[in-house]
Amino acid sequence: MFDFVFHNPTKIVFGRKKEESIGEELKSAGMGKVLFVYGQNSIKRSGLFDRITASLKKNGINYAEFGGVVSNPVISHTRQGVELAKREGVDAILAVGGGSVLDESKAIAVGVLADDDVWNYFTGKEVTRALPVFTVITLAATGSEMNGNAVVTNEETKQKYNIGSPHVYPRVSILNPELTCTVPLSYSAFGAVDAIAHVIEGYFTRQAGSHLQDRLVEGIIKTVIETNNVIMQEPDNYAARAEFMWAATLALNGLTTAGLKEYSFPNHMVEHSLSAIYNIAHGAGLAIVMPAWMKWYSLKAPERFARFAREVFGIEGAAAGISALEVWFAAIGAPIRLQDADIPAGDIGMIAENAAALATLWGIGDTYSKEVIAEILQLAV
Ligand code: NZQ
Ligand code: ZN
Repeated sequence: MFDFVFHNPTKIVFGRKKEESIGEELKSAGMGKVLFVYGQNSIKRSGLFDRITASLKKNGINYAEFGGVVSNPVISHTRQGVELAKREGVDAILAVGGGSVLDESKAIAVGVLADDDVWNYFTGKEVTRALPVFTVITLAATGSEMNGNAVVTNEETKQKYNIGSPHVYPRVSILNPELTCTVPLSYSAFGAVDAIAHVIEGYFTRQAGSHLQDRLVEGIIKTVIETNNVIMQEPDNYAARAEFMWAATLALNGLTTAGLKEYSFPNHMVEHSLSAIYNIAHGAGLAIVMPAWMKWYSLKAPERFARFAREVFGIEGAAAGISALEVWFAAIGAPIRLQDADIPAGDIGMIAENAAALATLWGIGDTYSKEVIAEILQLAV
């Protein structure tokens, strides 16, 4: 176990109907007016929009509405949100939706207090302040509800980049598993892949760590697989939705990477190019990239992959473990090859070039050159 600092400031309020307390949470935090950010139509269809506004009104919280966030949120819409939040003079951002809504909200929170264009903070400028962010998350996947990340695409340059800052951890996140029962099964599957990807990155790339961290990761992966096997049959199963939701939160809130040494996020680095260029769901892109990367990387860490096969699937052999994961991805309906998502193999060079730029920004460009990324993607054909 190596030295580390673990400081996660997000208050989690978990359980049935808890979204009805959002007004109280904002009031007790001293917020008078919020920018209420949401996506397309899901929160209106489900009646969540009305429950949120009722809670705001009951507690005397004023709000300006900002809907229309798209899945894989874009910088042009983020800039519109920044302008609206400045004009309205809000105290905080309230995000109600999936990871895309949360991420765009965090970016708006940064942009409101910045003198320059918010995209600068995605390309390396340090975030020094942001408005407080409050969330009601409706889809289990990204962990955005309890972390300091925000991922947004610059649709002109096809760069899907992120802000990583302690200033954008949500102040309060409300997690009601019932809200996730209406998530389409395809997105439940993509969320499962994403949560697994979040823990797998550190688990395999770490140079050193501890048995406790390994067991936390294996426990999260097993929970995600078991609960999603139930969800695919019974989408309304509260117990399965609840355990999956909490597992997805823990998968990317800093818990599993505390005390690890020298880990990186290469699967995310490559996937961000797929969703930037082809606008596919993040979890769908990961289901394509992960088995390919694992086949390539397992030669460098065979004993880690043998442990993964044994502990997660109860089988022997690195290759067998990778195959079991890939078979499971396909069984829940995720694509596992580039052509499953209509991505031509002839584009690999262009995708690799896009991903290599992010590798450089993330400081892993020495390992992940354009040629190496192309070699990995060839294993996804
Ligand atoms: O826009 P609406 O109408 O709300 O529909 C959404 C969207 O179409 C729908 N949805 C969400 N909750 C629903 C629902 N439909 C019915 N019932 C509900 N309860 O689901 C669709 C997908 O939503 P989205 O927010 O895009 O999905 P997700 O939560 O997977 O977020 C994906 C984004 O997060 C980023 C991804 O790259 C991608 O841009 N990530 C964020 C991370 C972070 N902040 O830490 C880490 C991840 O690695 C990831 O990169
Ligand atoms: Zn992810």
